[in-house]
Amino acid sequence: MATNDKHCFGTICIFLLLPLVLQFSYGKCELQLNYYKESCPRAEEIIKETVTKLYNKHGNTAVSWIRNLFHDCMVKSCDASLLLETTKNIVSEETADRSFGMRNFKYIGTIKEALESECPSTVSCADIVALSARDGIVLLGGPQIEMKTGRKDSKESYVAEVDEFIPNHNDTMSLVLLRFQSIGIDVEGTVALLGAHSVGRVHCLNLVNRLYPTVDPTLDPDYAQYLKGRCPSPEPDPKAVEYARNDRDTPMVLDNMYYKHLLSHMGLLLVDQQLASDPSTSPFVEKMATDNGYFHDQFSRALLLLSENSPLTGDEGEIRKDCRYVNGN
Ligand code: HEM
Ligand SMILES: *[C@@H]1O[C@H](CO)[C@@H](O)[C@H](O)[C@H]1NC(C)=O
Repeated sequence: MATNDKHCFGTICIFLLLPLVLQFSYGKCELQLNYYKESCPRAEEIIKETVTKLYNKHGNTAVSWIRNLFHDCMVKSCDASLLLETTKNIVSEETADRSFGMRNFKYIGTIKEALESECPSTVSCADIVALSARDGIVLLGGPQIEMKTGRKDSKESYVAEVDEFIPNHNDTMSLVLLRFQSIGIDVEGTVALLGAHSVGRVHCLNLVNRLYPTVDPTLDPDYAQYLKGRCPSPEPDPKAVEYARNDRDTPMVLDNMYYKHLLSHMGLLLVDQQLASDPSTSPFVEKMATDNGYFHDQFSRALLLLSENSPLTGDEGEIRKDCRYVNGN
């Protein structure tokens, strides 16, 4: 009995120690729940409070945090590379064509300042990107998502690679599915993530090719008429703030109205509309249109995968003091 116990203990020891040894030797850690529990216990609360305050003043900030997560995490990693501004060494990802229309970046500074005054140089900008999206989703009536933390911030921008990772508004569905598949998100998850287009806006620049010179026949004619009213010129001035709401009925609610609209040929972008016509995605569109709970479950699952796309952890990267600049610059 006693020798047996000893033997078991030895085996357990090896099982317990091996992962630890591996972790130290690679200097790599995993994301974990409540990573700031010891170093900044109120971190998640401060983010939520600030995101809520901002939402109450400018509702569309919550919308921006969701798009930020997509544009940051899809390009290589969730590392806040998106937030770096142009300096003499860096060209910002915000200047890429695919970042067109992104807004509210200055309010990331408001969240960061609140954290810095409580615990300086402790909470990464990459975790701010993730958690602000998580909290924004709830404010917009979406699901509550339990999210891990411990991401570190990049020291570089990947502006040259943005177009490779972020699809265009008129890309084919097979290309869109491939992009998401390359970061481990399946067809069902991709259909759910595009449900983020249940909130926010699209500028005319991204719509006019479906309206002029002829109306895209897959677009509902009355809706096309309405969109032409919103976007009267085939060549909109990119600086003019001409846009259409993503979802005319519930523009500030993250719900399955988006899928109902797709089924009535009222998808705004070409990629949106293709979700309903492509045979590989349409069954999921139909199911999400009838079941908001199912949409929310799939949205949560896929958003988590997106938010954990190859993060920098442990001693990789850094914790920026100012989300707009690499430290020591
Ligand atoms: C095939 C993939 C996608 C494409 C091609 C795409 C494209 C676009 C475009 C063209 C806009 C309008 C920009 C403008 O004119 O102002 C937009 C807005 C938006 N996108 Fe996506 N998107 C995709 C996936 C996603 C995903 C996965 C999310 C988040 C989970 C997301 C969240 C948003 C949000 C929240 C807005 C509204 C932004 C605002 O009102 O400020 N998108 N997207
Ligand atoms: C997609 O839209 C862009 C403008 O945003 C345009 O230059 C390009 O030709 C379009 N591509 C296709 C395949 O229609």
